[in-house]
Amino acid sequence: METAFSDMLIGVGGVTPIKVDSVGKRVLTSIELFAGAGGLALGLEEAGLENTLLVDNDKWSCETLKLNRPNWNVECEDVSKIDWKGYKADVVSGGFPCQSFSHAGKRMGFEDTRGTLFFEFARCVKEVRPKIFIGENVSGLALHDKGKTLRIMVGVLRSFGYNVQYKVLNSVDYGVPQKRKRIFIVGTLPGFAFSFPEPTGRLVTLREALKNVPNSPGSEYSEARRKILELVPPGGSWVDLPEDLQKKHLGKSFYSGGGKRGMARRLSWDEASLTLTTSPGQKQTERCHPDETRPLTVREYARIQTFPDDWEFAGGVGAQYRQIGNAVPVKLAKAVGKQVVAALQQTTEKRASLIYAQASEVYA
Ligand SMILES: C[S@@+](CC[C@H](N)C(=O)[O-])C[C@H]1O[C@@H](n2cnc3c(N)ncnc32)[C@H](O)[C@@H]1O
Repeated sequence: METAFSDMLIGVGGVTPIKVDSVGKRVLTSIELFAGAGGLALGLEEAGLENTLLVDNDKWSCETLKLNRPNWNVECEDVSKIDWKGYKADVVSGGFPCQSFSHAGKRMGFEDTRGTLFFEFARCVKEVRPKIFIGENVSGLALHDKGKTLRIMVGVLRSFGYNVQYKVLNSVDYGVPQKRKRIFIVGTLPGFAFSFPEPTGRLVTLREALKNVPNSPGSEYSEARRKILELVPPGGSWVDLPEDLQKKHLGKSFYSGGGKRGMARRLSWDEASLTLTTSPGQKQTERCHPDETRPLTVREYARIQTFPDDWEFAGGVGAQYRQIGNAVPVKLAKAVGKQVVAALQQTTEKRASLIYAQASEVYA
């Protein structure tokens, strides 16, 4: 679908009511879907956006958001139940869970994605019509269904008149002590030029990240698991075990090809952590403390995801690990958010010249 010139002008004149703070400075607003424990939301706040609405249907995630930011407007609701008409914001963001589309023989436009959580994200973008949107997902989305899922998503979002870019970013490149890859899909209305953040070039090690980490609860290993992991050195894994114990610990996986790299892993002080999952004791994705033979605690998890120490998590230990493990690392979110804020703050002259250049391409 071609973009009408009147649509392009939305970016300049603005249909979004302009919000100002107490000293008259323009407030840039954001709505977030699938907000979880607030990793992305907090990063965007640190970058200069004001979160005006956050939606999640998980009780503990909503409690976490309210506990830390009593002033945030949190809707603990299924996103499909929200009527977006009447909502306005400069930015819409959301880490929509990745689902397959049944696309046999279909063109796969917006309506064909109905019933998926991507549809809900796209519906919000279509109805709120933010200047910029940020979609976030696991890096595997790029390869899902041989790339077709991502192509369909990008096509749908482009059909709403957005310039859409995507890139896999590794958190470790943005001050996060963790190797964690996430794909960001960023759309801009004509007149807004966004570019992905440049890597900082500085590695933050686990040693640095866990310095003076406050005490907190954590899960425990069974006696049998503890005895195995005691034999693994920092940075090591099941390959460091004697062969009889490798066979015992890995079971059938010992004889299979891949898929066991994460087993019996002990983290290293001098590297970034491996990707955190929703539970540190899962056998396939073990994350044992470098010195002590135990899973990482909740607060160690939070440090590695770059949540500040005063960010509290609601629920029992399992719910806390899950919320933290699901989050976008705060510093990665901030790096992307700063680029979004920079794009929103471009001067009217720059935006007008961009619109002119982009319109020339459309009508050439
Ligand atoms: C990957 S987590 C989001 C993490 C979040 N972006 C962060 O940085 O902390 C996905 C979230 O989507 C929420 N979710 C899944 N289905 C939902 C639905 N139908 N409506 C609202 N939230 C939903 C889950 O409860 C979960 O918190």
